[in-house]
Amino acid sequence: MQRALGVCYYPEHWPEAQWREDAARMVEAGLTWVRVGEFAWSRLEPAPGQTEFDWLDRAIEVLGKAGLQVVLGTPTATPPRWMIERHPDMLAVDEAGHPRKFGSRRHYCFSHRAYLDDCKRIVTLLAQRYGRNPHVAAWQTDNEYGCHDTTLSYSDAARSAFRDWLAQKYQSTDALNRAWGNVFWSMDYARFDQIDMPNLTVTEPNPAHVMDFRRFSSDQVVAFNRAQAEIIRHHSDAPIAHNYMGRITDFDHFAVGVDLDIASWDSYPLGFLSDRLEADAAHKAAFLRQGDPDFQAFHHDLYRAVGRGRWWVMEQQPGPVNWAPFNPAPLPGMVRLWTWEAFAHGAEAVCYFRWRQAPFAQEQMHAGLLRPDSAPAPGLAEATQVALELADAPDVACTPGDVALIFDYASAWAWQTQPQGADFDYFRLCFAWYQALRRLGLNIDILPPDTRDLSRWKLVLAPGLYTLPESLRAALPTCPGTVVFGPRANAKTPDFATPVPLPPALPGLDARVTRVESLPRGASVSLEGGGRFVHWAEDLESRARVVLRRADGQPAMVGADGLRYLAGWPEPGTLRGLLRDLCAERNIMTQDLPEGLRLRDAGSWRFWFNHAAHAVTWAGHSLPPAGVLRESKVRS
Ligand code: GAL
Repeated sequence: MQRALGVCYYPEHWPEAQWREDAARMVEAGLTWVRVGEFAWSRLEPAPGQTEFDWLDRAIEVLGKAGLQVVLGTPTATPPRWMIERHPDMLAVDEAGHPRKFGSRRHYCFSHRAYLDDCKRIVTLLAQRYGRNPHVAAWQTDNEYGCHDTTLSYSDAARSAFRDWLAQKYQSTDALNRAWGNVFWSMDYARFDQIDMPNLTVTEPNPAHVMDFRRFSSDQVVAFNRAQAEIIRHHSDAPIAHNYMGRITDFDHFAVGVDLDIASWDSYPLGFLSDRLEADAAHKAAFLRQGDPDFQAFHHDLYRAVGRGRWWVMEQQPGPVNWAPFNPAPLPGMVRLWTWEAFAHGAEAVCYFRWRQAPFAQEQMHAGLLRPDSAPAPGLAEATQVALELADAPDVACTPGDVALIFDYASAWAWQTQPQGADFDYFRLCFAWYQALRRLGLNIDILPPDTRDLSRWKLVLAPGLYTLPESLRAALPTCPGTVVFGPRANAKTPDFATPVPLPPALPGLDARVTRVESLPRGASVSLEGGGRFVHWAEDLESRARVVLRRADGQPAMVGADGLRYLAGWPEPGTLRGLLRDLCAERNIMTQDLPEGLRLRDAGSWRFWFNHAAHAVTWAGHSLPPAGVLRESKVRS
């Protein structure tokens, strides 16, 4: 597998006279991909129907002739000002009922039909013009669906589309009333056009209503993306990608991924540490300039699954970003480490965002590979170093994981809809399990919830999976080892009701959750042998084998054959211990890595990554801060 580097470039931001030199410098740095176009709509179509593609023709020509392959983005994340005059009601509307105005980006509602038609029109023009262009070797649809909280829209367009969606799903309001339990507060509907969006209600709306709105909103993203992908495919054989973001769960990425060839994501480790990671101050201080050691890897593994094996980093942080509360500079070596870590997890390409730091507009404070005065910024040397190292590339293949973790977007919506405890967050739960596994030195595969074959993994984990899909239920016997569910697994029906018999109702496992409690910060439930549940604990009634007990004698984990149910949220050390034991039962080798050190097997190689700000010595290796070490794989 050929691994490659690239960069995001905005020819429309720079004088044309500069393009050639920029392209030559990209090539000189060892980059082979360049992404262009994704925000250029106002320059491609300055007025309705008046297109100006010549400059893009020339830019692609210059870049291509220099030896670069182009990823062409569709510009639909940035509808120009005239578009809002044409469709004043196309703006998304937030939960408080305010339109999300023009003046930045992503100011559109996925449900607006006429805007979608305009998107199809511009995508058709691009695909017709560049579909056979020899330099256009890949496509990107839109930019970061869901970013800036843009999946859910409470607009008139969304309301009418939601009603249609409900009518199709339920066929009759009687069926809908039954499914949602609308008898509860006299919420029955007689017609679909009486149903509103689940916002601005006096107190909480019906969770079944919210859950359907979340499903509908996700489907709208899928349909929007599919419309673009179908057009591009009609005119081009080049693979199509979308650049997803970190920790966005508002739409089902697996469902979007079905229509694409490659999943890609935008990796901003320092921004994420500051902005979207629950961690204590000590952890954030220790990893200030390196990012969390597992956050990027989690997304690499997740998007490898979304891309069914094919994935990229479309945007890689090259220096300080501008958008987090604090924006430190990476430790020297981290840009290289982040890049190699992506390759070790199977990325086909890593593209840096962006080529030159912009001296104007919103992202003036965001680093590029070049400074605004075109001198090299520190990230360029590290990118160049990776390019040289890649030239002498070993066979960095993607190795199957030791264990698998199921990740389900609908479960994220379910527990946002009914958290029951203010800090019960599905991503957080899954990520805690992922962190524990990584700290044990394991390679992890993330699986979608409709996985039908578990025969490759001796340990499969499904924390918080709110409903057990039939396909997964049928797949359970294919696992040659242990499948662990809980907490809150299979706790709802697909209609968002509490099932009877009570959850988890797993095949062959006699266990019922009879009561749950959420625990505020500082509160915990002690376990026999010293561990603790935090955030969440469940009372279990069970005749199954008790694998672990609470200090009060109640079962904390029960099991039968290859199934386990864990009735709580273990704190990190407890979780690591439990997972270590589960691995030992199945002869999966673990080790307790020092904080900050992580490993990843990739084909015949084992990579070691030191995310710590200090040197680490382990297993006969000594790694400096930000150190990357590649050794021939010793593991049998
Ligand atoms: C990404 C986005 C880019 C740029 C970047 C800055 O989320 O796709 O266009 O804004 O962030 O870090």
